[in-house]
Amino acid sequence: MIQLTQPLITTDVISDQLATTGYCVIPNFATAQEVLTLQQEAKSLWREGEFARASIGRGANRQFQPEIRSDFIHWLDEYALSVPQATYCQRIDQLRQHINQTLFFNVQEFEAHLAIYPAGAYYKRHLDQHQQTQRRQIACILYLNLGWESADGGQLRIYPEAERWDHFVDVTPYGGTFVCFRCDTIYHEVLPATRERYSLTGWLCRRN
Ligand code: OGA
Ligand code: MN
Repeated sequence: MIQLTQPLITTDVISDQLATTGYCVIPNFATAQEVLTLQQEAKSLWREGEFARASIGRGANRQFQPEIRSDFIHWLDEYALSVPQATYCQRIDQLRQHINQTLFFNVQEFEAHLAIYPAGAYYKRHLDQHQQTQRRQIACILYLNLGWESADGGQLRIYPEAERWDHFVDVTPYGGTFVCFRCDTIYHEVLPATRERYSLTGWLCRRN
């Protein structure tokens, strides 16, 4: 019973915040040990050449635009998750069910990739919903950077209101911090960092 309390409180906070502001930031969503193993796995996949330059758009509109984003990604294979990846995905699945029940979303799938931003890399302001489809509904990001300082940069800059570009909230990508936001309304960008920046980024999706 007691173990359940914490995640339930967290999922309530997340759905309340999604409903009111469209985004939510939860520090210490994952433990340092979980973050460390996820980051170590990402580092060995990187060494093995398992990351690819990220693109933007979808289908025929997919293109590489390094002036818009300059990170590298590795898609998780839902049939070959490591133990820490599976633990995280189970937690996201509880969140998914809670969001469907409380906010009347109808999200059925989670697609996720590890991302590495080399020092100086960025992702310019954008929405996560592709123009042709509303498949992606809620972005969920877990940062994997232990020992990160705010002076290292790499903030996720969230714009709570479209067009009010002078009004933003910066989230430092400390290891274990979790962020989620609506894909249809929340513009955001990734600022360059002085160090390599790791994250596990995914989307709760409607079925096509
Ligand atoms: C993305 C993105 C934000 C982040 O991958 O679409 O906006 O903080 N990532 O890594
Ligand atoms: Mn994004």
